Amino acid sequence: MKGLILSGGAGTRLRPITHTSAKQLVPVANKPILFYGIEDMAEAGITEIGIVIAPTTGDEIREAVGDGSQFGVSITWIPQDEPLGLAHCVLIASEFLGDEEFVMYLGDNMLEQGLSGFVKRFQQSRSDTMALALDGPQLDRPSAQILLAEVDNPSAFGVAEIGPDDEVVQLVEKPEVPPSNLALVGIYLFDSSIHDAVSAIEPSPRGELEITDAIQWLIDSGRRVCHEVLDGWWIDTGKKDPLLECNRLVLDTLKLVVDGEIDEKSRVEGRVVIESGAKLVNSTVRGPAVIGAGSLITDSHIGPYSSIAVDCVIAGSEIDNSVILRRATITNIPRLTDSLVGRDTVIVRGDTRPRATRVMIGDHCNIEIE
Ligand code: DAU
Repeated sequence: MKGLILSGGAGTRLRPITHTSAKQLVPVANKPILFYGIEDMAEAGITEIGIVIAPTTGDEIREAVGDGSQFGVSITWIPQDEPLGLAHCVLIASEFLGDEEFVMYLGDNMLEQGLSGFVKRFQQSRSDTMALALDGPQLDRPSAQILLAEVDNPSAFGVAEIGPDDEVVQLVEKPEVPPSNLALVGIYLFDSSIHDAVSAIEPSPRGELEITDAIQWLIDSGRRVCHEVLDGWWIDTGKKDPLLECNRLVLDTLKLVVDGEIDEKSRVEGRVVIESGAKLVNSTVRGPAVIGAGSLITDSHIGPYSSIAVDCVIAGSEIDNSVILRRATITNIPRLTDSLVGRDTVIVRGDTRPRATRVMIGDHCNIEIE
């Protein structure tokens, strides 16, 4: 089985962070979201992975992932000139995929449970139906397996309708009137019949070749599409608040590791990771939290659910429930909460008179002042 990870797209919902950087590289607990997907694949024994990349962010992703050896996998890069849809990604990956079964993983999705069980059950049901067909009643081999999760806002996702015999009967992309509360999670298993489907469908009203339409095409052509409903958590990290939620969930799994330096006036409480080369001076870190390599925290309080990336400088500030990207500087900020702060950002409470808020803010920023 091969793997296909989709890491192209426009990333409009995480602007301004994604003006300059790929949304799949935004860190959760100081590790890029994309890496969790690659690790999940490696753990499921999938070592040949194709990654779809966009012209704008592709180079950065290539540099971060390298040749895949850090994960024990080999990577084939699949450039996509324009974000023409998830099914378009399958179309352009057809040479890499050949006739093999594959798992398709959306590079901005994260889920608690690994891929192994999901993959095993698909392979098992395909081989079971082969055996039945040889010496028993004919049952179609599943051509695809989808993963569903109950959500409160199904209109934001692809939505599945399950029939009385527990088969998938209908899939619709972001419907105004959803037929159920079962959203499509961004992980799909396919056999080679998906290639006929992605070639047969037309672009949707939003101009994309939708994977939901391709799977519907399989159903309409009499193919079997299995489904599973997810147990653990799943997050489409493409917006700030889900990203912070995901950061909380992953930080909750941390174990205490202190490789950095802590002076005698500093304290760490709970599950905290202080990476090597990070330094705490007269500061408290209350976990779960992670402080990246090379970051300097002075006279500050870092509260629960904070991920401070590498080479940040935090002075005289209090931070909690936030993701701070690398090389950010935060000085004399009494309380920063529920925030996502981009790379090389400077936030400072100054004492210049007249007292005022002075900013240089990029496009699409969102700032709430107390
Ligand atoms: O997160 C689950 C949802 O993902 C599903 O419920 C929907 O059915 C599915 O269409 C998808 O919806 P999104 O609107 O969230 O997809 P998004 O545009 O965010 O793209 C998902 C990933 O695929 C993201 O990492 C970017 C990448 N991508 C996207 C497009 C449209 C590409 O690589 N190329 C593309 O052309």
